[in-house]
Amino acid sequence: MPATPIVAPFPAARLRRLRRTPALRALTAEHRLSVQNLIWPIFVTEVAGGEGEIASMPGVERLTLDGAQRAAERAARLGIPAVCIFPHSDPDLKTDGCERAWDPENIGNRAIRAIKDAVPDLAVMTDIALDPYNASGHDGLVRDGVILNDESVEALVRMGLAQAEAGADILGPSDMMDGRIGALRGALERAGHGDVAILSYAAKYASGFYGPFRDAVGASGRLVGDKKTYQIDPANRDEALRCVARDLAEGADMVMVKPGMPYLDLCREVKDSFGAPTYAYQVSGEYAMIEGAVRAGWLKPEVVLESLLCFRRAGCDGILTYYAPQVAALLAQG
Ligand code: PBG
Repeated sequence: MPATPIVAPFPAARLRRLRRTPALRALTAEHRLSVQNLIWPIFVTEVAGGEGEIASMPGVERLTLDGAQRAAERAARLGIPAVCIFPHSDPDLKTDGCERAWDPENIGNRAIRAIKDAVPDLAVMTDIALDPYNASGHDGLVRDGVILNDESVEALVRMGLAQAEAGADILGPSDMMDGRIGALRGALERAGHGDVAILSYAAKYASGFYGPFRDAVGASGRLVGDKKTYQIDPANRDEALRCVARDLAEGADMVMVKPGMPYLDLCREVKDSFGAPTYAYQVSGEYAMIEGAVRAGWLKPEVVLESLLCFRRAGCDGILTYYAPQVAALLAQG
């Protein structure tokens, strides 16, 4: 041992002091993940034999209406505040006019009613976009290869009104057409659904991470071209903030950043800039990456909790995640 220490003492900067024990770490944790931060996206099918595991999302299943009711009961038991319904609709009934999107009897609306009947206190969120009912797989109406904006907004508003009528608590426009939030908000007010909330998919990027979802809803084979004329370029940040500002001004109650993990910078900026209820969607491709690595033994399952806690640190009030039930069960165990 040298007579004088090599490193001079620097007590003021010993940041490891508070990392020493689990108790000290618990006292100084700046963010926490709670079951109350979770929204659980579920897939509901009307296709005979359509239920069961989705190949590119191991562990995630398409559910029948009965299955959706059981999932809702499970969510309520676990304390998850909301589920978000995604329809897997009959491919033979998809049309270019997307008329089924606002049919009160479409599978999405039937699922809303089934869940509200079974578990009235569970919040039900929906997705507003034409893709589940569109022959072309696009979120808007298509004419001569062009995604029409204003005509699509009319159709989307009809779709949203039907969901509100079926009992949805939160409508989630994910279509990225211009003007849809204002149009929807006005129509809801006029129809006596002024209490229905809008969670706008405001900063929604044209992302490759949605691939497994499109398998799950049966849209992959069908999508003609891509969604780059309406979803945001992953290169852009200012544009996403302008979308959020616009949607809040038009009457959105809550806003979303999507995808999640590669876009945490936007989560932080959206929260800091607007202070609105801010959500991230840990999308299907993120789930597939994590779950694939966990199943291969390359990552430990704990990374799931870390991935969700990071959304809280980045400013999100909540996260849509396919892991919601597993994580809720883990959190309940402490
Ligand atoms: C549909 C919609 C998509 C997702 C949610 N709503 C796909 C898309 O925009 O093509 C993706 C969710 C996920 O990947 O988990 N408009």
